[in-house]
Amino acid sequence: MLNIKACIFDLDGVIVDTAKYHFVAWRRLANELGIDFTEKENEKLKGVSRAESLNLILEWGGVKIENEKREQLTDRKNEWYLEHIQKMNEEEILPGVKLLLDVLKEKGIKIGLGSASKNAPMILKQVGLFDYFETIVDGGQVTNSKPHPEVFLKGASYLGVLPAQCIVFEDAEKGVDAALGGGMLAVGVGEEEVLGHAHYVIPDFKNLDYDVLLEILEEKMSPIKN
Ligand code: BG6
Ligand code: MG
Repeated sequence: MLNIKACIFDLDGVIVDTAKYHFVAWRRLANELGIDFTEKENEKLKGVSRAESLNLILEWGGVKIENEKREQLTDRKNEWYLEHIQKMNEEEILPGVKLLLDVLKEKGIKIGLGSASKNAPMILKQVGLFDYFETIVDGGQVTNSKPHPEVFLKGASYLGVLPAQCIVFEDAEKGVDAALGGGMLAVGVGEEEVLGHAHYVIPDFKNLDYDVLLEILEEKMSPIKN
């Protein structure tokens, strides 16, 4: 019997590379407000909610805007973001992801999504992966953003598994913190330097032997005694 009962995936940066679309939309908004916005700053917004991202951009640019007006700005940014998202298709699924999902399905491991993005269900539909997910917890369903574990704890609970029976795949430092905080096994997808606090780090899902990966993770997971 496997100790791993479920895998919960982050979306942006793990399943699809949407950071580039967030970047152009945020840069357009920032520039309109007279703020310079670089890719380096965009990196810091990974895993950060839409509202918090705007707060940070305004802070970095030293621009003050009343709280009531901030929603209009995030709405505009999202409209521009959606122009890119609506053109996405299955070719934008990151290499290896679909294969891994198939392997998990075959092994009877439950699949969930835990994302800060309110656009998550739409993006999954757009790239044709929606039906793989037994549960989707998105930015609209949580009150606490990552690094708070709420998004993953909800995911585990909706999947009917204990946190310690879940693996979380995350590309953001704060996302790994959230998984660890929730008592899950965290797999960082990206650079060791940024995600070294995860239980295990992979650069991406390309050319991976999924059986070997699952064996390694299975060993790292402590068995749950009833
Ligand atoms: C996260 C992204 O997944 O979702 C962040 O890494 C983004 O960059 C956040 O700000 C919120 O996304 P959305 O789609 O609700 O604006
Ligand atoms: Mg991410």
